Amino acid sequence: MVQATPVLLVLSLALVAPGLSTRKCVLTGHWMNDLGSNMTIGAVNATGDFSGLYNTTVADNPSKIKESPLLGSQHRTEQNRQPTFGFTVNWSFSDSVTVFTGQCFVDEKGKEVLKTMWLLRSSVGNIMEDWKATRVGINIFTRLQPQK
Ligand code: BTN
Repeated sequence: MVQATPVLLVLSLALVAPGLSTRKCVLTGHWMNDLGSNMTIGAVNATGDFSGLYNTTVADNPSKIKESPLLGSQHRTEQNRQPTFGFTVNWSFSDSVTVFTGQCFVDEKGKEVLKTMWLLRSSVGNIMEDWKATRVGINIFTRLQPQK
C-alpha cells in the first residue's frame, strides 16, 4: 500500500516550490531612474524586441527636452528570470544618441530593479573634437507602478 505521508510531502513541495524561486523580472512597464528620468517599455515580443518612450530630466539643452523613442532587445531564455537587455534612445530634440545596457534584477525584497550603464554620443563639428563626444555613466531604474 502507498504511504500517505511521503505522497502528501511531495505534493505540498510541488505547490510551494514555484513560489520560493526568484520572481521573474519583466521589462514591460513604467520606470524611473536615479536622475528622475522616466521611461515606458511596451511588450517584449517573441524574439525579445521591444520599443518605448523616454522622458529625460537632464540634457545639454534642458529647455529643448522632448519625449524620445527607444528601441531595445532583451535576451530570451526561459530559465533566466533576471534577463540582460539593451536599448537605444534616439533623442528627438538633439543630434545625440544614448545606448543603455543592463540586467533586470529582483532584489532581496522582491522589488524589480534595472541596473544599467550607458554611453551618450553627442554630435561634434569635426573629427578633431571626437575625443570629447562620448560620455559614460550608470543609471538605476525602479518600477513606477509595482506589479502585484
Ligand atoms: C542630450 O542632451 O542631447 C540628450 C539627453 C541625454 C540624457 C542623458 S542619457 C544618460 C542619462 N540618463 C538620463 O536619464 N538622462 C541622461
